[in-house]
Amino acid sequence: MSRFNIAFVLTGSVAAYKACDAVSRLVKLGHRVRPVATSAALRFVGAATLEGLTGERVLTELFEAGGALEHIHLGRWADLVVICPATAHTINRLSSGLADDLVGALFLAHDRRKPFLVAPAMNPAMWDHPATQESVARLSGWGVRFIPVGQGRTACGEIGDGRLAEPADIVAAIEAALSPAAGRLRILVTSGGTSEPVDAVRVLSNTSTGSTGALIADRLALEGHQTVLLRAERSARPSGAVQEETFVSHGDLDRALGRLLGGSRFDAVVHCAAVSDFAVEAIEVPAGTPTPGSGKLASDCAPILRLKPLPKLIDGLRARSANPALKVVAFKLTSGGERAGGATSVRALLERSGADMVVHNDLDERAGPESFPSTLHFRDGSPAIGCATRSELAAELARQLSPSDAPADASP
Ligand SMILES: Cc1cc2nc3c(=O)[nH]c(=O)nc-3n(C[C@H](O)[C@H](O)[C@H](O)COP(=O)(O)O)c2cc1C
Repeated sequence: MSRFNIAFVLTGSVAAYKACDAVSRLVKLGHRVRPVATSAALRFVGAATLEGLTGERVLTELFEAGGALEHIHLGRWADLVVICPATAHTINRLSSGLADDLVGALFLAHDRRKPFLVAPAMNPAMWDHPATQESVARLSGWGVRFIPVGQGRTACGEIGDGRLAEPADIVAAIEAALSPAAGRLRILVTSGGTSEPVDAVRVLSNTSTGSTGALIADRLALEGHQTVLLRAERSARPSGAVQEETFVSHGDLDRALGRLLGGSRFDAVVHCAAVSDFAVEAIEVPAGTPTPGSGKLASDCAPILRLKPLPKLIDGLRARSANPALKVVAFKLTSGGERAGGATSVRALLERSGADMVVHNDLDERAGPESFPSTLHFRDGSPAIGCATRSELAAELARQLSPSDAPADASP
């Protein structure tokens, strides 16, 4: 890849040490990196570290003798600006358009044709707070690209969303944003679980959170692809520039897929929604047989549910697509007893659905919230590729769907 000018802004998070690793990697890749640090950031990493890594003076103050117009000059010089780590404080300030410090002025003076990336890092409560979430949505609407936060244990000991992305993912996102827009695809991602009505208030559903699909959608958007996420209501939301639609039941998802795939040209569909295999056909209660979805069954009526199988939506995706060359990625989840037959069921799915790739993952192999051991299998017989986490899987899918890439390669 060509060498680029990158303005790298650090703000006051304990994750600043990880950002130093990303800075070092970018310099090693041949990019010219000029560091900017808020005064809070310099409480976590020293200016000497940043100067040593980049060979450049660290900019901190808006009103600096000899550098009073740096917010304009630096913005013109930079091919890309990234804030990493980005604190809640800075994200919320930027979304208000405040420019009384160097970072705010750099943001407002930024040429919006060039990429502006933000890699948040904070405690899960700060990340989930409506103030932060509304700022993220507002900034995304202005074209800022968010590098998805990681899940897991944060420095404060809490578990949840808000960790800074890993340095390798930050560098990949920066390089992807700098690569030319040619090869931009239109991709549909489905995520979350369907809910089938039992009565007026109860549903038959599953435990899917939709976080894998949201992360994949974010990654694809970050790489410049036009991405639509068709997700279950109340499932995980994307944090980047992703267009969203929601569904509740198998029927809703079925209709939305038909409308989207048939109505406009998509290049690929990543179908990771957990679609119910069954719906309620009839409910037997002592007093009669009510229709599924109607009324509320009395809590002591001891109903017997008769289920009917639902069609596999994955099987009809290509046939419903306005683009016959649609690339289809299917997901196969196994657990416990099914695991042994995993390879057979993946082959059967590839054959039956005509999918180009199947992501196989087994519930019992997950070791923690970050862990997502999965294997990507190819219809064309290319060697399978293993991924350890959701982020790795999202990056691999982005690579495989990218038209400029060589065919799948399993070499390390
Ligand atoms: C030990 C410590 C760790 C902190 N880590 C974070 C963090 O990870 N994310 C965050 O949003 N704020 C964090 N803060 C709070 C920010 O440093 C504080 O809001 C500061 O004013 C941010 O300023 P800045 O955005 O201008 O750099 C931390 C504060 C302390 C004392």
